[in-house]
Amino acid sequence: MVNLSPPVLKTISSRYSCRTYTNEELKDEDYDYLQQCIAAITTLFGSTMRIKLIHNNRVELPQKIGTYGFIKNQQGFIAATTADTKEGLVDFGYALEQLVLAATQRSIGTCWLGGTFTRGPFNQIMGLSPHEILPAVISLGYPADKKRMFERSVRYIAGSDTRKKATELFFEHTWNNPYKGSEPFTTLLELVRLAPSASNKQPWRILFNNNAFHFYLERTPGYYDRNKALLGFYDLQMIDMGIALCHFHYGAIDYKIDGKFAVTHHPEIDNREYIISYILV
Ligand SMILES: Cc1cc2nc3c(=O)[nH]c(=O)nc-3n(C[C@H](O)[C@H](O)[C@H](O)COP(=O)(O)O)c2cc1C
Repeated sequence: MVNLSPPVLKTISSRYSCRTYTNEELKDEDYDYLQQCIAAITTLFGSTMRIKLIHNNRVELPQKIGTYGFIKNQQGFIAATTADTKEGLVDFGYALEQLVLAATQRSIGTCWLGGTFTRGPFNQIMGLSPHEILPAVISLGYPADKKRMFERSVRYIAGSDTRKKATELFFEHTWNNPYKGSEPFTTLLELVRLAPSASNKQPWRILFNNNAFHFYLERTPGYYDRNKALLGFYDLQMIDMGIALCHFHYGAIDYKIDGKFAVTHHPEIDNREYIISYILV
């Protein structure tokens, strides 16, 4: 896992989807640091991923990369490939969020893009093979002081500044019993709540039971099917799960909570899909 300086709560609280950057190129030391971080990335399910830092002035671009105006002045991107499986997508989110947080600690702004980017140039740069997908990229640059009007509108439409309450996301023993646990666990769950998610849908649900936190995905009805059929998007909510798991894991490391991730036998409940558990030891 990429090494972060504690407290991770500070890093996670200061991260936001930055869509307007200054004109300044990434400094050599920041570029080199991100390259080192790529080498340190770990996954939960052992998926094979290829990750590449694509910097405007360091990589020959086959065509102009576009973001449909969503992003301004980005100085580069992180692009990666994975397998189009549940595990491949969870690992994708878990792995790349390590880079997002490492970038945040260096005051580099980031924005996950699963929809508003032109896929062609990235597929070409990565030399995508038939068993690989490139479901999302991350834009990079130094944050501009002021958000553009357009950026403020995007945030407003996605409701980016409003998060679901902890009582709607985290439960103990049964799904109708909100989690009331104690510190540091409530802070760990807060790290999940602050995670970025596609269209800010926050599909993560966690049940604490038998000394373990069980992670579930509650899909937004129609979101994946509609976006896949109309726009060719991949399963972004599965990526959201990986991002949330990354935040939780960094919290567990920071607060020295002994435990391990494991897939245990769990039935799918109603519209919730079981992903993985963090078992306390
Ligand atoms: C998997 C994923 C895909 C996303 N895709 C896009 C995108 O295509 N365009 C965009 O402007 N923002 C995208 N976002 C950013 C979300 O809109 C943002 O995380 C959410 O609104 C919460 O805001 P915050 O990140 O500032 O906390 C994506 C986020 C995630 C996690």
